[in-house]
Amino acid sequence: MEQVQDETKEKDSNLPVAISSKTNHDDNSIATLPTREGWSTPLTLYNNCWLRSHMVAKFMRVKENFKPRHDDVILATHPKSGTTWLKALAFAIVNRSSYEFDDADHHPLLTQNPQTLVPFIGAQGGNLEYLETLPSPRLLATHLPLSLLPSTITTLGCRIVYLCREPKDAFISRWHFDNKITQGVKIDLDTAFTMFFEGCSPFGPFWDHYLQYWKESLQRPREVLFLRYEEIVFDPLKVVRDLAGFIGVPFTEEEEKSGVDQEVVRLCGFKALSNLDINRNGGTERAEGKIFIGYSALFRQGKTGDWVNHMSKEMGEKLDRLVEDKFKGSGLKF
Ligand code: A3P
Repeated sequence: MEQVQDETKEKDSNLPVAISSKTNHDDNSIATLPTREGWSTPLTLYNNCWLRSHMVAKFMRVKENFKPRHDDVILATHPKSGTTWLKALAFAIVNRSSYEFDDADHHPLLTQNPQTLVPFIGAQGGNLEYLETLPSPRLLATHLPLSLLPSTITTLGCRIVYLCREPKDAFISRWHFDNKITQGVKIDLDTAFTMFFEGCSPFGPFWDHYLQYWKESLQRPREVLFLRYEEIVFDPLKVVRDLAGFIGVPFTEEEEKSGVDQEVVRLCGFKALSNLDINRNGGTERAEGKIFIGYSALFRQGKTGDWVNHMSKEMGEKLDRLVEDKFKGSGLKF
């Protein structure tokens, strides 16, 4: 999902204005940017990245006005790669001593959608003024490519956990999701495929997104952890342990013996989360009512390889060739 958070307005109105809420760019400059229709909301191309048009002004501010801190942990994901899952896992790991896992009244993951528990930088639930008020260390999220984030994010020592997904599955997940959230015309598979193939999908081109973080993870492996959805599906316990170590809060021997790490995996599993009342029945409206994100749309199947049930073999091969070409020489393979 792109940016879900319910209580943004409330938080906005209660805050002192630490940073001007005006953008540095007037609406006229946005109006001249290329825009395309097709997905559930129009997309606008800003600095080589297709952003949902209604979010462009907010995202333009991030590079200059978001103030990273050296101890920030940033979950950077390409959408539809398991952002909801990663947010849940990281939140459960970081807060594991504050809540009992089976205490329905108190563990926030049992009563809130994971997307609302980790704010998106500069978007709903994570406006920049609000982020300034959060105590350190902050757990934050973004779908923005590295190129649209402040450069200090790579020099201050912040830790970035990047998550992406096998592109054919990411595309199918995107297509289903957009058609679930739209309040208007649905996009057919062929049109969606053409746009995705051309790089025109939310936060696309996907290959630039993957590559920016991939290269950064090669240069600074201690500060950028590059993950794929498939490896969490394959061995969630290993990823949870690695993630805790990377974030700087490794599980103790005692915790592993008593199964705290396994509890994190269970609590954040597809079945557990998707069956909760909040995730079955909750949701939030966006883009002035053009989209409604029912939280259930964030939990479709949670499997790998579903693309074969929707795309032709030819489409699959065409996307594979593109991926091979775009990632050639980088060492990144799917
Ligand atoms: P599918 O559409 O293939 O089922 P994002 O959170 O980035 O929007 O990604 C959504 C994808 O992650 C969806 O994939 C969704 O089902 C899957 N997902 C969400 N929560 C999950 C979980 N706890 N375990 C596994 N997959 C999950």
